[in-house]
Amino acid sequence: MSSLRTLPGPGGVPLLGRHINMLRMFRDPLAAMRRMYATYGELVALRRGDPTYVFAFGPEHNRSILSNPELFKNGAGPFFRFAKGTPMERLLLNNLAVMNGPHHRQQRRLMQPAFHKQRIQGYRDAMVALTTQTLERWQPGEQVDVLPEFKRLTRHIAVKTLFGLDQSDELEQAGELLQATVRATSSPLLFILPFDLPGLPYHRMSRAVGQLDAYVRRLVAVRRSQPEGNDLLATLTHVRDEDGTSLSDDELVGHTFTLFVAGHETTTNALAWATFLLAQHPRVNADLVDELDRALHGEPPSPEQLSSLPLLDGVVKETLRLMPPAAVGLRETTASCELGGYALPEKATVFYSEFVTHRMPQLYSEPDRFKPERWAALSPSTYEYLPFAAGSHRCIGAEFAVQEMKVVLAMLVQRYRLSIVEDAVIEADFGMRPARGIPVRVHSQDRRFARSRIRGRIGELVEFSG
Ligand code: HEM
Repeated sequence: MSSLRTLPGPGGVPLLGRHINMLRMFRDPLAAMRRMYATYGELVALRRGDPTYVFAFGPEHNRSILSNPELFKNGAGPFFRFAKGTPMERLLLNNLAVMNGPHHRQQRRLMQPAFHKQRIQGYRDAMVALTTQTLERWQPGEQVDVLPEFKRLTRHIAVKTLFGLDQSDELEQAGELLQATVRATSSPLLFILPFDLPGLPYHRMSRAVGQLDAYVRRLVAVRRSQPEGNDLLATLTHVRDEDGTSLSDDELVGHTFTLFVAGHETTTNALAWATFLLAQHPRVNADLVDELDRALHGEPPSPEQLSSLPLLDGVVKETLRLMPPAAVGLRETTASCELGGYALPEKATVFYSEFVTHRMPQLYSEPDRFKPERWAALSPSTYEYLPFAAGSHRCIGAEFAVQEMKVVLAMLVQRYRLSIVEDAVIEADFGMRPARGIPVRVHSQDRRFARSRIRGRIGELVEFSG
């Protein structure tokens, strides 16, 4: 019977087995996943024959995994025991990404109104205003690293649209608080030293989370006492299910934090890669400036114009195809089952990969090339193109992120030509972040597009034509 077949995969070092393979994998996951697919095919065990950690590549497996959340549930959530009833536990568990089943469906339904098309279009003015501020800080002739610049911009956009704050010091303060909480909750030492003692990361995390918790609660209290406003938190505070259920304060604090974490760095990285890819593809860059000049005449795009700029749309789609900020995702089996003819036990970890799927030559010709024009004649299925994943956990902020990318790029490209600093080292790290930033020289838009000489391992990920 097929399910008795041995899962292919690399051999393991005796005793250390898959742990060594896991370490190798984490050194360069993007290259490792491509190698696995090229060597072993669509279903690969982290260690040959071991069905507890499995990589499943390609649209068929993406469909099996993502369309069946009852069998392939979202990750186990917290890896260590959070002190019961603390702000920390509330913050990290009131998060769509770690919820499953009816609870996830109910919370997602309550959050959906904040992401309706009209709402997202309503965030366009804030996106334009904050992008203008960023672009005004840059001067022709100077060198900037767009990675921290976009990080600051997307943080301000996130905080402005979440909380509706107007003053720049308020934006900065709220952004700092959220960022400090992200830093404090991502320290790997938390797992090794989970003790609430001064000087330890766990203590820092407790303090940061406590401050954020108090801050968001204060904002929620104000929102509850007012008629519904335009920011995300206001919408979330006032939503009601058909049976009258609304989001509790604990849920609002957790969801606010998740929206910030899930949306901020992903959009930053996507914008940084789009900028890099445009700068290194002079013809595409020139065509894009033509398209924007013709349609916008130097103005920021209106919501209607955003959907009628085919090359801008192609640039965003192609960036998310080549350099998807979420390159890999994972699920856990809830029962023993079969996948692609192999038996998996309960609690097996199954990885799916946007990155590997997007590089399959049978789906995308010349998959390593940046060809935004391909999107004029391409309409892949949900499981062939999935920068925002698919199924019940598909990114709730996808349309928000795409609008943000389009607004920022349209305004930036009309105003400036950016060239990559000669000999800059460009590489993608573990999380598809530009590991050493994207240093650029700012020029007014003089249309003197030219590719720069660069170094680093980006050449393994992008094939530059010509
Ligand atoms: C280019 C930018 C973005 C990318 C590539 C991206 C990608 C993703 C992916 C792949 C997932 C699903 C992960 C999984 O379940 O395996 C996801 C989930 C999520 N994203 Fe995004 N995201 C982006 C921007 C945003 C923004 C701007 C927001 C909020 C405003 C956001 C909020 C969320 C939330 C709340 C979830 C969890 C949804 C659920 O589990 O039901 N994301 N995102």
